Amino acid sequence: MKWIILAGWSGTRLYPITKGTSKQLLPIYDKPMIYYPLSVLMQAGIREILVITTPEDQAGFIRLLGDGKKRWIELNYAVQPSPDGLAQAFIIGEEFIGDEDVCLVLGDNLFYGQSFWSLLNNAVQTVTNERKSVVFGYEVKNPEIYGVVELDKEQNAVSIEEKPANPKSNLAVVGLYFYTNDVIQVAKNIKPSARWELEITTVNEEYMHRWKLKVEVMERGFARLDTGSHESMLDASNFVQIVQTRQGIQICCPEEIAFRQGWISRDEVSELAKPLLKSNYWFYLMNL
Ligand code: DAU
Repeated sequence: MKWIILAGWSGTRLYPITKGTSKQLLPIYDKPMIYYPLSVLMQAGIREILVITTPEDQAGFIRLLGDGKKRWIELNYAVQPSPDGLAQAFIIGEEFIGDEDVCLVLGDNLFYGQSFWSLLNNAVQTVTNERKSVVFGYEVKNPEIYGVVELDKEQNAVSIEEKPANPKSNLAVVGLYFYTNDVIQVAKNIKPSARWELEITTVNEEYMHRWKLKVEVMERGFARLDTGSHESMLDASNFVQIVQTRQGIQICCPEEIAFRQGWISRDEVSELAKPLLKSNYWFYLMNL
């Protein structure tokens, strides 16, 4: 399975803070936002990743994350020339995906929960063995700002709508999607929406109509944090700060995940920590 992080255009909603830099490079408490989705992939054991950015921000991501094949991760980059919708990621990533299945995670989605690893693992199994695509539903108070999925009693999706004025359920579809390889063709064949975007919701609808979509519901207590507004970014930062301070652990620290996965040694962690000298992050890595 191939993995894509979409970290492109985020519009003007967060202006002026995103006028000079990409949204996914902004901090959530003590780390750049992209560390959180990156850590999701690494927890799932993924090491080969395509990061899609805006043309002007690509250099910033490479400066932050590095480029190419390292011993612990392989980062590839592509640009999205204009904000033509989330589903364009599969068209841009066509060559990278090749004939494998693919997972897309949005660079501004944060997930935190104990059972996350098994959710990811189940999704990979479903795609690989059942040849069905998988999306995740998360109960929210304000479904009208998301893609919304309605389920029947057997947990089958019966409708999926993008930002509906009258949502049929409270289940938001989160920014983490697993697809069979034919998603490239699906994305190429869908029509742009009224806002002229290739919507991921249209892709999901297509799989639903083919009876090839499985919806996994993220359980109560699982944290899926928003970063769509200044308030939600502050809430996400506060959440990370509270958990980290109470427990003395880092949420979504890629170097720590690589170390715990056995991909790098203690000495290599120290090497990676060097450029971060004297920050709290450096101190944490040195004390792993
Ligand atoms: O976060 C989950 C929601 O993400 C889903 O429930 C919705 O179905 C889905 O459409 C999307 O809704 P948003 O309103 O959050 O999408 P937004 O336009 O804000 O884009 C999400 C991220 O993807 C954001 O970091 C910017 C990036 N993006 C967006 C577009 C349209 C790109 O990189 N390229 C794009 O063309």
